[in-house]
Amino acid sequence: MIEDFRKLYPGGLEPRFYRAPGRVNLIGEHTDYNLGFVLPIALDMACYVACAPSADGCIHVHSLDRKEGFAFDAEVLKARPRRDWTDYVIGVAQGLAQRGVKIRPMNIALHSDVPEGSGLSSSAALEVSSAFALLDGREFDKIEIAKLCQQAEIEFVGMPCGIMDQYISVFGRKNRAIEIDCRSLENRTVPLPGDVAIIAVNSMVKHELASSAYAERVNECLAAVKLIQRKHPEVESLRDAKLEYLDEGGMTGILEKRARHIITENERVEQFLTASERGELVEMGKLFVGSHRSMQFDYEITCEEIDFLVDAALGIDGVYGARMTGGGFGGCTVNLVEPGKASAFGEAITRAYKSRWGVDAPVFRCVPSEGAGAVERL
Ligand code: GLA
Repeated sequence: MIEDFRKLYPGGLEPRFYRAPGRVNLIGEHTDYNLGFVLPIALDMACYVACAPSADGCIHVHSLDRKEGFAFDAEVLKARPRRDWTDYVIGVAQGLAQRGVKIRPMNIALHSDVPEGSGLSSSAALEVSSAFALLDGREFDKIEIAKLCQQAEIEFVGMPCGIMDQYISVFGRKNRAIEIDCRSLENRTVPLPGDVAIIAVNSMVKHELASSAYAERVNECLAAVKLIQRKHPEVESLRDAKLEYLDEGGMTGILEKRARHIITENERVEQFLTASERGELVEMGKLFVGSHRSMQFDYEITCEEIDFLVDAALGIDGVYGARMTGGGFGGCTVNLVEPGKASAFGEAITRAYKSRWGVDAPVFRCVPSEGAGAVERL
């Protein structure tokens, strides 16, 4: 990246480098904005930034992948969304400024190898790496970085997401999954059994409706909480609800299904952690499948291609379990596979997907990596 940076900003100062990773969530889907539990890992795929102070009073940002750039000035508090990728960067700059951080003139170059629209959190990687570039070594509370990046996505980009993606991008740990309590925002690092490979398969499907359907689910959960509160006023979010509350509230149809997914999914996170501690791979796999079916039939956020990938995976030798990961309506599945059978699994699932959908599905092994931070010269 250093050569690209020098070409983009000739005669300027030499850059420093930061990275912020994408993620795969192992289990606990759509539980974050219901203040429940999630269990993501940070990936080695990341968004990288090169940055150095500039002299002309502006913040210049160039995407090496898009081959386009833009500039803004320190008056970022007045900026309005443009409805494109620049909103992730400006939204974060605005969040920092709102917290009293002086936005200094800078030259920034970005490059990401987190595939967009794949459910691997390319947007959180962009937000968090932008925050690191704009801070450029200044002390700032890490949890505040995660929160202001989430706020940028909700308020500036307009996607009412939870905290998981930004949190794991900041707090990821090498060889560990992170259980996040999305109410207290505390976390626990979790070693995974050594005798299982985590394999992601990208369906290459990106549905237009993903973000409107996401917002619809957020609202359905809030509506379910309102009904439950009639009898159980202490319930602040679906995290506090129990399955038996659903009948009592006279809840039927869609809201009941949505609430059931969240309540059972939170339970599955805890069960998965117990099974993982005991090295019970078969049980971990069953919980994966339970999570997927719950997303398929109760939360209704999967799609045909993704369901196909899960069903096909379950018929392949050495697979303990498979489920969709991320926001839904496409993106990736995550699979728990016997390590010795991982490459045969990759070949079999690609072949099956290609013959059904005519599309090559990229397969990759997920190794938990470090969260965001400074890196050596790139
Ligand atoms: C997206 C959101 C997250 C989370 C997941 C679903 O990735 O950004 O906050 O809600 O979907 O678990």
